[in-house]
Order: sequence, then C-alpha cells, then structure tokens
Amino acid sequence: MDARTSPADAPAANGKEAIIKVRDIVVGFGDRIVLNHLDLDVYRGEILGFVGTSGGGKSVLTRTILGLVPKRSGLVEVFGENLDDLNETQRSAVERRWGVLFQQGALFSSLTVKQNIQFPLRENLKLSQGLMDDIAFAKIEMVGLKPDVAEKLPSELSGGMIKRAALARSLALDPEILFLDEPTSGLDPIGAGEFDELIRTLQQTLGLTVFMVTHDLDSLHTVCDRIAALAEGKVIAQGTIETMMQATHPWLRAYFHGARARAVMQGRG
Ligand SMILES: Nc1ncnc2c1ncn2[C@@H]1O[C@H](COP(=O)(O)OP(=O)(O)O)[C@@H](O)[C@H]1O
Ligand SMILES: [Mg+2]
Repeated sequence: MDARTSPADAPAANGKEAIIKVRDIVVGFGDRIVLNHLDLDVYRGEILGFVGTSGGGKSVLTRTILGLVPKRSGLVEVFGENLDDLNETQRSAVERRWGVLFQQGALFSSLTVKQNIQFPLRENLKLSQGLMDDIAFAKIEMVGLKPDVAEKLPSELSGGMIKRAALARSLALDPEILFLDEPTSGLDPIGAGEFDELIRTLQQTLGLTVFMVTHDLDSLHTVCDRIAALAEGKVIAQGTIETMMQATHPWLRAYFHGARARAVMQGRG
C-alpha cells in the first residue's frame, strides 16, 4: 500500500517497468512544503489516476515530474533518465516523448486548431507544410473532431471541443506518456464520460502511458488501471479502485465512501 518501495535502481517488485520513478522528493515554496518525501511509480502502459485534496500538490507534482518546478531534494526518472543529469539537447529529446494537457491548458487563442496542433511540430521538427497538415488532420480525427475544426479559432469551439483540440496538440509528436491535469473539469458529465472513453481508446490503440490528475470518481472507476492518492505531501495509498475503497485513511474513506461516491457506485448498478 505504501508507496515507499524499492530504491530507484531496483526493478519493480511486480516485474513491471516503471516509466516514471519519483523518489523521496521534497518540493516547497517559501515556508510551505507541498511535497514531503514523496515516492511514486508509474508503470508503462497503465492509466494512473492521481487524486488528493484541492491545493494538495497534484499539479505541483505533475510540474515537478516535467521539470518545471524545482525540487529541494529527491529524484525523478522518466524513461530511465534522471532529468537533472541531462543537457539541453538530451532534455528536449526526452520532452518530445511526452505530451501534456495542463490544468489551465488553453490553446493559443490567436491560432487556429490546426496551427495549435502544428506548434509543437514546428518547434521540434523540420517538416514540409503538407506533411504537417496531414499530421494535424490525423490528430484531429484521432480525438474525435471533424476536419472542419482545423481552420477554427478556439473562441469558436465548445469547452469539450477545446479539450479535444488541446489533446490533439499534446499528441502531435506521438508521445509515449500523456500527462493530463484534471482533463474533464469544466465538462458536463456526458462530455466528461466521452472524454474518458477517448483517453481509454487512445491509451489502448497508441500504447500510451497516462498520468491523469483527476477528482472525477467516474473517471477513476471507468478508465484508471490504478489510483494513487496524495495527502500531507505524500502518496498515502495506491492500488486498484477496490484497494482504495478499503483504505482506512480518513480522507480516503470520506472521498471514496462519501455521498458522491455512493451515487457513482449506484449509477454503475
Ligand atoms: N509557483 C508557486 N508558487 C507558490 N506556491 C505555489 C506555486 N504553485 C503551487 N503553489 C502552492 O502549492 C500548493 C499545491 O498546489 P497545486 O499543486 O496546484 O494543488 P492541486 O492539488 O489542487 O493541483 C498550493 O498551496 C499552491 O498555492
Ligand atoms: Mg491542480
């Protein structure tokens, strides 16, 4: 149950490959320690749901793994690489292998959907315009949007379409890992459910590993292979939804057995 398992260089006890390894990291701002000796593994090919109190540090952990927030101590390895050891070229090579949908993950408002999707392509690769157009249309189709959204501006799209377009952009470079920070927040339950299904389909067809911050119990039930929970700066429990339902920590009990949780369970009949 406890995340504190093996040293970073040992193979995972369950024989799975940890594509992300977080060991003993401490992250804080001023006097406030947000992540306090946190450990976490994410295994290749899984969808990990990451839950925890609002303001607890879920986004901070995501940004720390991505190297966007400095840590005071500890280790982060992605694809077996310690990101602190890499020079700029090596680092961009690693960054090309992940896609990110940030919590505030807006599209560039002055660019069309197609231009948004092509932005990371332009930044990272030298491709002809024709090839970039082919890629953009392929990604648009992949996330379930119609080809005519390609020429639209974000202001012309619904909330759900914007999320899908942002997802298409995060898939532009064919990443191996997808980081999603509360991807369904702001969507109605049907829109959220459809987005969850899309994530599951993409994960299966593209062989993605997905790290998904969410507070959506439906998502946890329907798409996540495993769940990890953050409280007091640490991963306090991790496992399947069944494991989490049996956890004794007061926050987990309140979360997984609260009124909303019961409604979700009943809804699933
Ligand atoms: N750049 C920053 N500077 C100062 N404090 C920050 C910064 N980023 C996040 N925090 C603080 O860290 C805590 C965790 O934030 P966050 O990870 O966004 O929470 P959540 O779990 O809701 O995603 C909050 O108290 C937040 O105010
Ligand atoms: Mg957050």
